[in-house]
Amino acid sequence: MTKGLILSGGWGTRLRPLTCTIPKTLMPVGNKPVIERQIDLLKNAGVTEVVLAVSVMSEYLKNYFGDGQNLGVKIHYTNEKSPMGTAGALKLAEPFLKGDNFFMLNGDVILNFSFKKMLKKHTNFNGIGTIASRLVENPSRYGVLIIEEETQKILNFLEKDEFQNSEYANIPKMPVNAGVYVLEPEIFNYIKPKKKLSIERDIFPKLTTKEMIYHHPISGIWKDIGKPYELLDGNILLLKDLLEKRNSDEKNLIDKNADIHETVKIKPPVMIGENTVIRQDCNIGPNAIIGNNVYIENSCNISESLIYNEVYISKKTSIRNAIISDNCLIKENNKLEGKGENLVILANYVQIDENLQLKASNESSINVCHHEIVKDDII
Ligand code: GDD
Ligand code: MG
Repeated sequence: MTKGLILSGGWGTRLRPLTCTIPKTLMPVGNKPVIERQIDLLKNAGVTEVVLAVSVMSEYLKNYFGDGQNLGVKIHYTNEKSPMGTAGALKLAEPFLKGDNFFMLNGDVILNFSFKKMLKKHTNFNGIGTIASRLVENPSRYGVLIIEEETQKILNFLEKDEFQNSEYANIPKMPVNAGVYVLEPEIFNYIKPKKKLSIERDIFPKLTTKEMIYHHPISGIWKDIGKPYELLDGNILLLKDLLEKRNSDEKNLIDKNADIHETVKIKPPVMIGENTVIRQDCNIGPNAIIGNNVYIENSCNISESLIYNEVYISKKTSIRNAIISDNCLIKENNKLEGKGENLVILANYVQIDENLQLKASNESSINVCHHEIVKDDII
């Protein structure tokens, strides 16, 4: 029976300060952890057992998922004392996975395609592995795949710096590793135990001369949430995707237990979670994703932003291009404004005193660490 392994033990440094208190793979996308959405996709493909390869902040993941009973899958955990790299993490999961082929996922990508179709394709290819690929512009931030068109075989892997120094560096669109793999258990023969190893750099490139690895081009949404603006973009993409797939005319996803005053103006698309209260004369959206138990007082404007759970936003506050994490308190008459890819980011339990401006610039974002109290403008 095909099982699943989700890599969930990286540091998430590029998402700090958010990842100081929430592991990257538990980041909400459409008000649900990115990794939980992946488990749903695995379940849709018939997977009933999932291994989470955890390391950094592993307790958070164990507390959230437990043995998986609530999700209807059996969840196992590996025990990496410090990050062992993507292949080191895989090797540790060998006892759970040997015996049949399995899915392996990077736990930080938002996607929505049929894993079942990918598995079928892998079976037909009959190689040691099949890797989901995605054609992207500016591929240098990802692992680039060099593919033989007729056979769909992967000839080489160029991770980041390797790509920039390669003969392909000027090609504007290239297929990249989308972070979803189907692998045969023979892969374990190629990974030395107890060593920190990267599957993308240390294992796959060498394997192409000995074994067949194929690619499976995917369509639909795909976003790695490695950086804050990617997390924001990914949330918006997912919201639009969820709305499209609902087959109804609804332009927003608003929980039936949200309490929204009749004077509130909503510009789609917007998502609002349960028990969230929005008082009179607010303007919400477009592209505002607001979690559960949030309280927004009157005359606030919120767009192009993620507001996580249990956040309190006092009256006459404007928020644009921002990510506000759990339990923040924003007092009245504040202006929080990111610029382009440079967002305003508040980690958990931040307090912003009244009458302040937090404005990011073309050069830098604004990052406020958890439990800080901001008393002065940041411009
Ligand atoms: N358990 C464990 N241990 N997990 C790890 C470790 C580790 O030592 N290192 C990274 N991970 C997990 C991360 O938590 C993440 O879910 C996944 O492995 C990928 O690591 P990233 O650090 O996010 O890699 P990346 O985004 O720079 O590049 C990878 O993803 C791209 C697609 O999104 C590569 O696989 C690229 O080839 C790929 O294109
Ligand atoms: Mg990543």
